Amino acid sequence: MGYKAMIDANKFVEEQVAALQKQIGDNKVLLALSGGVDSSVVAALLIKAIGDKLYCVHVNHGLMRKGESEDVIRVFGEEMGANLTYVDATDRFLDKLAGVDDPEEKRKIIGGEFIRVFEEEARKLDGIAFLAQGTIYPDIAESGDDGHKMVKSHHNVGGLPADLKFELVEPLKTLYKDEVRQVGLALGLPRSMVFRQPFPGPGLGVRCPGAITRDRLNCLREADAILREEFAREHLDETVWQYFAVVPPFKSTGIRDGGRTFEYPVILRAINSTDALTATPEQIKWDVLCRIRDRILAEVPGVNRVLWDITEKPPATIEYE
Ligand code: XMP
Repeated sequence: MGYKAMIDANKFVEEQVAALQKQIGDNKVLLALSGGVDSSVVAALLIKAIGDKLYCVHVNHGLMRKGESEDVIRVFGEEMGANLTYVDATDRFLDKLAGVDDPEEKRKIIGGEFIRVFEEEARKLDGIAFLAQGTIYPDIAESGDDGHKMVKSHHNVGGLPADLKFELVEPLKTLYKDEVRQVGLALGLPRSMVFRQPFPGPGLGVRCPGAITRDRLNCLREADAILREEFAREHLDETVWQYFAVVPPFKSTGIRDGGRTFEYPVILRAINSTDALTATPEQIKWDVLCRIRDRILAEVPGVNRVLWDITEKPPATIEYE
């Protein structure tokens, strides 16, 4: 995950802070802070530029990885002193998703519900004039603006009702991802946040294939945390592009302490890619894999089998849904 310096990050910060102060004046700005690289860097930049005139809303849809919402609260709410509203909408999302097994339907529910929750919070805040977004240059290019061919449309927090009228603030829109990371470091964000691996908007929802259940989601969150811990211990988090666990919707027979078990498997996947259009599996050392297996089987209740996915993209996609 190396990157090369293309901009002077400190100079970019200095210029953007001045430009943002000029653009925003005494007005208030709203930001959906997911904890991803782009929204985190926008938040840090705006905190530096306008301080408590920035209002961050972090919506926990119940599909975050272990510790992610807590990190957002600690870094932005406590260490950086941001105005941060934390909305735990777990029950709301999981209730809506109960029994829904079609992948596209799941995505629609998660995206639609996110906008509704964010909109409700936006309406509670008075006098907001601007909406900040973590749009980066490839988002614009892929959406067909700026003379580029349409690849896929990026929505970010688009889709808000027309009567919520905001002017957009998009301070990262000229930057590529590795430049955004440099700016994040220049702003003092933790490396774990700045070099975070890609994480899909629908979160763990696409790694809990079929109808999401709370027990499967819990297995997934714990197994994924163990995988991440062990990868970090081996410094694989600095070189492997994306790595995660999946818990499929079936159980299999096992044996523990002489008795029969009937529990979920955990699938592990670690891939390398440059653009997410193709991907190859990372070759992980056997002893590292075995340690991850042992920890998952010892520490995650309800799991009796660990599988290693060796499939390239194509024919598989990176995510399971
Ligand atoms: P696939 O599964 O299509 O994933 O090979 C390619 C890359 O995109 C990420 N991904 C998403 N990112 N919203 C996102 O922001 C999504 O709905 C989404 N689906 C997939 C995926 O993690 C991988 O890096």
